[in-house]
Amino acid sequence: MFSTSKLILLSLTLALIGVSPEKAAKTPSREGPEYTTDGQLRFPRNYRDWVWLTSDFHRASDPLKPQAGERRLFNNIFVNPEAYKAFLRTGRWPDRTMLVVEQRTAVEMGSTNPNQKGTDQNSVIGIGVHVKDDARFPGKWAFFGFQSGKSTASMIPATAACYRCHASRGAVDTTFVQFYPTLLPTAKSKDTLSPAYLQARRTLPAATK
Ligand code: HEC
Repeated sequence: MFSTSKLILLSLTLALIGVSPEKAAKTPSREGPEYTTDGQLRFPRNYRDWVWLTSDFHRASDPLKPQAGERRLFNNIFVNPEAYKAFLRTGRWPDRTMLVVEQRTAVEMGSTNPNQKGTDQNSVIGIGVHVKDDARFPGKWAFFGFQSGKSTASMIPATAACYRCHASRGAVDTTFVQFYPTLLPTAKSKDTLSPAYLQARRTLPAATK
């Protein structure tokens, strides 16, 4: 079931066209969300210096119905260091947490790679950001998708599928901590796994929990 969820995520975030990390390196580092006066989120330019949570490798199409020429993509997930440290202490995300999913195309390893067989990451094709800001958003969290060359993004409306899937399937406070191996033990020991996740886990096949 989760593989289907991930595929939906891919198809949704595929729509978010890339922001180049080269451009991203120019401004000073900052922690926590920053907004323009009209309420757009500023691109977190230093996200590549943050804590890496995981990388997933997905088919772009449904694995049960493979399509000719289908693409595979990598999702690399990062969180700002302050929020990461707070999570390790408490099992909860503090106010002003920012999580970034960076999507990259996948290429078969070429002859320059001594391993020969396997897959490498290539260019960024999309960036999605999940922000916790208690005072600003009625649901405390909001999603943003950055389009090509843009340094700001509007909030994705709260009616979008992003919110429903994350709220009903994310293990901790609308985030997919079940896939972040350095955080899951803390969530378990601090007893912060969401009731919705615990309920869903009872009905999922073991491999997808
Ligand atoms: C059907 C389920 C589903 C939908 C819809 C979905 N996601 Fe996700 N999302 C996931 C899963 C599963 C992960 C865990 C990482 C992975 O498997 O790649 C994730 C991880 C993320 C993360 C990393 C931080 C976190 O919250 O765990 C961000 C950011 C994110 N998604 C953004 C989005 C955005 C933006 C949208 C809407 C355009 C969206 N997602 C829609 C399932 C979904």
